[in-house]
Amino acid sequence: MTTIKNVAVLGATGNVGPAITSALASSGFTVTVLTRSAQPPSNLPPNVTVRTVDYTSRDSLSSALAGQDAVISALAGAAVPLQKQVIDVAAEVGVKRFVPSEFGINTRKARGSAIGKILGGKIEVVDYLKEKEGSGLTWTGVATGLFFDWGLERTGLGVINLKERTSTVVDSGNERFQTSTLAQVGRAVVHVLQHPDETANKYISTSSFNVSQNEIISAVEDLTGTKFPVTARQSSADLQKSGEEKLAKGDWTAFFDLLRAWNNGDGRGNALSEEESGNKLIGLEGEDLKTVLREWLRKEGVLKA
Ligand SMILES: NC(=O)c1ccc[n+]([C@@H]2O[C@H](COP(=O)([O-])OP(=O)(O)OC[C@H]3O[C@@H](n4cnc5c(N)ncnc54)[C@H](OP(=O)(O)O)[C@@H]3O)[C@@H](O)[C@H]2O)c1
Repeated sequence: MTTIKNVAVLGATGNVGPAITSALASSGFTVTVLTRSAQPPSNLPPNVTVRTVDYTSRDSLSSALAGQDAVISALAGAAVPLQKQVIDVAAEVGVKRFVPSEFGINTRKARGSAIGKILGGKIEVVDYLKEKEGSGLTWTGVATGLFFDWGLERTGLGVINLKERTSTVVDSGNERFQTSTLAQVGRAVVHVLQHPDETANKYISTSSFNVSQNEIISAVEDLTGTKFPVTARQSSADLQKSGEEKLAKGDWTAFFDLLRAWNNGDGRGNALSEEESGNKLIGLEGEDLKTVLREWLRKEGVLKA
């Protein structure tokens, strides 16, 4: 049986990295954070070791990864292709498991689509890990869907306008999509590492819950006792078209249009089905929509603490 104890986290200082790092550090793993920064990060728990790393130097990576059982990558954007170099070094120094930076829509399903072009770097990294399976390094891809609380805090998920007490929906608003809170993403990583044999060389999809835009609106209305009428409706066909047009011009903000169409377009079918869900495999419980929304509304000062 594989045992994982020492875990290195890359990209720990970003949006999702702190949630992953905190979950690991509070679950008995010995965590080392790798960062490019010479300054100690301020958004991480105290019981982690922080090491500065140069991703372009094999020596730097090699000494940082020696003795690690697993590497969790939460690198993003331009750093996504750098993961291949990290994978090579991880295999050389005997790391057992690499968890690439997925943590979004299921990129295995996006290949060949417009959004798949933007996510091409991620798709290539998982392909690369599959090629390296004989090297002794195993991998687990973790698709979590949209970050629910993170998206609520930034944009009301593009659905709820708290200030105006209105809402916006794509198509009918009834299509359900896969979503996870940041804390759930952290727990998913912990549960993967606690089930190393079951998750070896697998791409799994997990979630807090599936939810539709109308279910979010209705739950917010119940919790606040206020109506949030739909004052704007977007068409997923228009979003897909504008996304593809932007992409053709090299404008990667296309991602946001394409993502809304992917998640919310009627009939897109990107909710996580019972059969596809990896929650059972890794022993991960879902979450309650209203509990998560209540917490957000409290943070926003809409509900009393
Ligand atoms: N599902 C969703 O709704 C959702 C939302 C956001 C992100 N995500 C996914 O979550 C993953 C992490 O995204 P994030 O938003 O947390 O990342 P992020 O905050 O943009 O960046 C994470 C960290 O990566 C390191 N980094 C950034 N650029 C780099 C570069 N060029 N070279 C080397 N390191 C670099 C930085 O760490 P140091 O400075 O410490 O080295 C940074 O703090 C990605 O796969 C992303 O697609 C999903």
